[in-house]
Amino acid sequence: MTDPWQAVALSRDVAKKPLRVLLDGAPIVLFRSPSGLAALADRCPHRLVALSEGAVRDGTLECPYHGWRFDAQGQCVAMPGHLGDLPRCRIPRYAVTEAEGVIFLSKGTPTDLPYTHCMAGQPTVLRLVKSRTRSTMIDAAENILDATHTHFTHKGLLRGLSAKRYRVQVQVTGGPGWVEASYTGEDRQKGLVSALLDGARVRTVGRYRHPGIAELEYWGPKGLVLATTFHLRQADPETVEGVGFLIAPHQGLLGQVKALAFKPMFRIALAQDRRILRSAFDNAGAATRMIGPLDFLRRDIEAIASGHLPDAAQTPRSYEIEL
Ligand code: FES
Ligand SMILES: [Fe+2]
Repeated sequence: MTDPWQAVALSRDVAKKPLRVLLDGAPIVLFRSPSGLAALADRCPHRLVALSEGAVRDGTLECPYHGWRFDAQGQCVAMPGHLGDLPRCRIPRYAVTEAEGVIFLSKGTPTDLPYTHCMAGQPTVLRLVKSRTRSTMIDAAENILDATHTHFTHKGLLRGLSAKRYRVQVQVTGGPGWVEASYTGEDRQKGLVSALLDGARVRTVGRYRHPGIAELEYWGPKGLVLATTFHLRQADPETVEGVGFLIAPHQGLLGQVKALAFKPMFRIALAQDRRILRSAFDNAGAATRMIGPLDFLRRDIEAIASGHLPDAAQTPRSYEIEL
């Protein structure tokens, strides 16, 4: 649970130019040096200019103001015009790594590799998406895992146009740093996405993992059919950013087609969710939210986010609802 990795950007976003990202309000600059990807505090120690406004020269990061240069360790290696020894000057650096096309940062010193997605290590077809909205990490994670909003927010896309609901069983289980809701008995959903991709569905799982990972799994009779793993982080107090993996098992052409078809529809769903999340954020004021009887995961997500064991770890719960 300590020093978690957080997804901050796609590998392809950092090429020749430096890239600024925010992690809990802290500005961090990513750039490629001869020793690999580097992550430094995005603030020149001289006049506090954003180094990400500068350029990468000879594998070092050059400040746009007076041209001081910093290496991948954050060490100042040049002060143009100055003759003689350089004064000691170093800026904070962050642990950074890449996995499956995504850049992960940590404010600590993690000893393990980052968790990428729920089918890591298996042959898959992957697509990456990025998203950003005015919201909080918890609201955005809950939104991804919330099965009951699809009838309204995503009418016609993830759900059919009819209001028909089906009786389903929901099992909520958890452990240290995670909680999940597993839906069974659900009939095939009638939306466009389901029609294209799903086929028979046996089980749908929505899972939250520390520190901001929301994943959905669609299971058919022969195994996992489609999944999304979304890495969310609070960029600043008003903004949540997400890097998402859309995953299909590699079944030759079918996997490719699924992943291709899924991405544009996923983008539409994201836009629909962004609108709702923004509205909730801007409209909230100082009011408190009610936790409804179908909000199975909210309290447990909040518990995990504040470093506690979710209730579901001790007491699994089951419900019957109409979805
Ligand atoms: S502000 Fe960066 S070199 Fe002067
Ligand atoms: Fe949604």
